Amino acid sequence: MAVHIRRDGAVAVVTVDRPEALNALDTATKELLLAAVRELSADETVRAVVLTGAGDKAFVAGADIAQMKDMTPEEARRSAALGQAVMSAIESAPQPWVAAVNGYALGGGCELALACDLRLAAENAKFGQPEIGLGITPGFGGTQRLTRAVGVGWAKQLVLTGRHVRADEALRIGLVQAVVPRGELAARARGLADELAAKSPLAMRYCKAALQAAGDVDLETGQTIERDLFALCFATEDQKEAMAAFLEKRAPELKGR
Ligand code: CAA
Repeated sequence: MAVHIRRDGAVAVVTVDRPEALNALDTATKELLLAAVRELSADETVRAVVLTGAGDKAFVAGADIAQMKDMTPEEARRSAALGQAVMSAIESAPQPWVAAVNGYALGGGCELALACDLRLAAENAKFGQPEIGLGITPGFGGTQRLTRAVGVGWAKQLVLTGRHVRADEALRIGLVQAVVPRGELAARARGLADELAAKSPLAMRYCKAALQAAGDVDLETGQTIERDLFALCFATEDQKEAMAAFLEKRAPELKGR
């Protein structure tokens, strides 16, 4: 199987594992990823997810070029729709997803990292949207999410030149939130996932939804969504407990209700 899920307490680690193609996403791998996202999204015991690639060299080296080469336009549309469905499912998952980028994150691999909520890169990671060199556009949401993540200037730089950027540059342009030594990546991503998993899962879900709206709607609509989600928090036991705990100077006991 090209996609593994390992559960450990409240954290699940999802690994894309196709060593023969540097973890490139063919149709079967995209279907497995989509199934994994749906399974984890439905599991209330999973409070945070780490997504990574198997091996030392690649997170995900893109969509599978061998499979794409002879596609008809209609097959290409279906392929992009499946890839976009994977990315949207991650983005709208109830739990936070952390990308642990352990090497090349190119094309569909960069798009996969961008669909996650937070990105940690190993020092050897390289990012890029090299599709222009293959005579195509990005197809798994890259033109949209990259622009939102780094702004239109850097998105154009990456998409129109197809150049790779190293981890330190990815950090400078805001494409990743941190760069860590290769040997520490898994532990650092796990530490971040543990930190996220300890928060109220309901507030986490509402924060994700409100932040998502920021890229999708106008300010007034976004503020209305924020206000409604803020109000909804006051229907939860976790809000009462967390505020009581603050005032009583003790750690909260969150129940996810
Ligand atoms: N699809 C299919 N196979 C791939 C692949 C991909 N995206 N990336 C790497 N591979 C395969 C190679 O063909 C090679 O296979 P063989 O051993 O059978 O020859 C194997 O993985 C190892 O790759 P390399 O020998 O090329 O390794 P390298 O260290 O010399 O280079 C690399 C590494 C720079 C990542 C290079 O493999 C590369 O440029 N890969 C393609 C990256 C790319 O263009 N990605 C975008 C794809 S298009 C896309 O993703 C569209 C979209 O938005 C949906």
